[in-house]
Amino acid sequence: MERELKDRIEILQGDITKMEVDAIVNAANSSLLGGGGVDGAIHRAAGPELLAETRKIGGCPTGEARVTKGYRLPAKWVIHTVGPIWSGGNRNEDDLLASCYRNSFKAAIEIGAVTVAFPSISTGAYRFPLERAVNIALRETRSFLPTNQSIKKVIFVCFGTEVHKRYQRLFKEVFT
Ligand code: APR
Repeated sequence: MERELKDRIEILQGDITKMEVDAIVNAANSSLLGGGGVDGAIHRAAGPELLAETRKIGGCPTGEARVTKGYRLPAKWVIHTVGPIWSGGNRNEDDLLASCYRNSFKAAIEIGAVTVAFPSISTGAYRFPLERAVNIALRETRSFLPTNQSIKKVIFVCFGTEVHKRYQRLFKEVFT
């Protein structure tokens, strides 16, 4: 079981907008109207039709996810999820971040995505402590994978070496 689970996860350093997967997850804000960080990169790469579609959705509450097409991105779909803004850890941030992963997986199943790539949600502008966020990401993935066989590959795309190293180290702890 462990071997099989591990084979369904990949951790790499790179730019999520370049990923040739069925769905990439966007760390959006509740307006879904774009922003900086990975949100800005995804909107720039996808082109203006993405904003036209997200505008019609009319926002997304923290912890939930909404799906759009990928337009000019190599990915067919974008799963927009809104992570919690870190405010000390007593405002349900852990559960809200865990919900981002759970709801993104749920959305991926609904659209029939077989390969899904995640950025490190909430660990940039939203200032969620990295170690804590990576633990949540990996543990939610570890709980989800045995419940579903349709998603063949979950890829964590790390934008910098520090994040990459953290995922690699914590992966060993969570999956062994
Ligand atoms: N590919 C992969 N990861 C990326 C990319 C990229 N092209 N660009 C940035 N990242 C990484 C950041 O380095 C960080 O590790 O994504 C992670 C999340 O950081 P943010 O993009 O700042 O997202 P977040 O912390 O969830 O804050 C969301 O920022 O961009 C705005 O509109 C967004 O208001 C929302 C807020």
